[in-house]
Amino acid sequence: MLRADINELLTQTGAGTPTGELFRQYWIPALLAEELPENDCPPVRVKILSERLIAFRDSEGRYGLIDEFCAHRGVSLWFGRVEECGIRCAYHGWKYDVTGQCVEAPSEPDNSNFCRKVKLTAYPLVKVGDVLWTSMGDPEQQPGLPEFEFVHVPPEQTYTSKRWQESNWLQALEGGIDSSHVAWLHSGGLESDPLFRGAKGNEYSLNDLRPFFEVAEADGGLFVGARRNAEDGKYYWRITPWVMPSFTMVPPRGDHPVHGHFWVPIDDENCWVYTFDYHPTRALTEAEVQAMKDGHGVHSRNIPGTYRPQENKDVDYLMDREAQKRGETFSGVRGIAQQDASLQESMGPIVDRTKERLVSSDTGIIKARQKLRKAVEALRDDGVTPPGVDPAHHRVRSAAIVLPPEESFIESSRDALAARLGVAHTSV
Ligand code: FES
Ligand SMILES: [Fe+2]
Repeated sequence: MLRADINELLTQTGAGTPTGELFRQYWIPALLAEELPENDCPPVRVKILSERLIAFRDSEGRYGLIDEFCAHRGVSLWFGRVEECGIRCAYHGWKYDVTGQCVEAPSEPDNSNFCRKVKLTAYPLVKVGDVLWTSMGDPEQQPGLPEFEFVHVPPEQTYTSKRWQESNWLQALEGGIDSSHVAWLHSGGLESDPLFRGAKGNEYSLNDLRPFFEVAEADGGLFVGARRNAEDGKYYWRITPWVMPSFTMVPPRGDHPVHGHFWVPIDDENCWVYTFDYHPTRALTEAEVQAMKDGHGVHSRNIPGTYRPQENKDVDYLMDREAQKRGETFSGVRGIAQQDASLQESMGPIVDRTKERLVSSDTGIIKARQKLRKAVEALRDDGVTPPGVDPAHHRVRSAAIVLPPEESFIESSRDALAARLGVAHTSV
């Protein structure tokens, strides 16, 4: 459990909050690149870390992420016209460039220099892979760009989707670290999902429902190892990296693509989940990409034209009690992503961690909270740069590996846990 004040400390991410300041040290996903597909395309509303912003792509292909509201009288620039290297407010025609600078205030006298003094808050927006990243902290301290493997493999080897989750970011992240729920909640999917089925590791997962957890420190966060019994006294280890603040990777299964998530606070009661799948050595097949778009694997099936999953709170997640009874799904909800989201949203928008009863399989979550709190306080009190800011910390991978009982999971997996472009992942 956590004290109420610590729960608040770790779950609030607005400007000026300690965890909000932590998030502002990093490059974090702000949009998918597909949301701004061409120059002068329609602008997109973006709420992130409780700040309301507008994203646009100007006539020369520059990306902008600026305050949503016009400096004149507060109209939303979502109604604006993206044209001639800027976005023009629909009310009286003031125009801003991608840096937030007002470049025209046509309602003012011709010779007035007025607009030069008007500048909206603006953050950088940079395309790396299929994601547009922003860094909302001190521009003088901007870190190097993200080096996560999923945004650096060739484009045909990677796919990223996005979904809205109606819960605080931390309980969503904790689901990504807690792999003991997999053999329960996702048991149906392991056997039937086209992006999981057939792996030898699935048998180990389903045959041993009491994984033992061991956690090792990483430069950027943690490696959370879940140990299950394999044959001949050996152990099957599934190792999940967490790179601070909110990047996790699911251990791979067989030769299937490997996947993971980025959990980004929209505000304190909602988050965006960016979900990626990539294969380090080959292109994704058409069937794999189609399966991801259809909400298989760890992706969601979204309402067309939106990033809201079809299985959402308003429709009771399309609960199917018959499928539950037949054993096709353990909880009655279709798809791994929404199986997770439905349960995490059911805890309430910000779960009350003073009431929890944590057990041994929660070791990863406990260690992650401790590390997060330590980093938040060190930044707040002493200005210490947190783990995961250095791009070298991004070059990690998940792994699934069978080891003799005497071997340390972390020592024996050092190579397996390092992202190496063009080298296959270690998977069972
Ligand atoms: S409110 Fe935007 S130009 Fe007047
Ligand atoms: Fe899950």
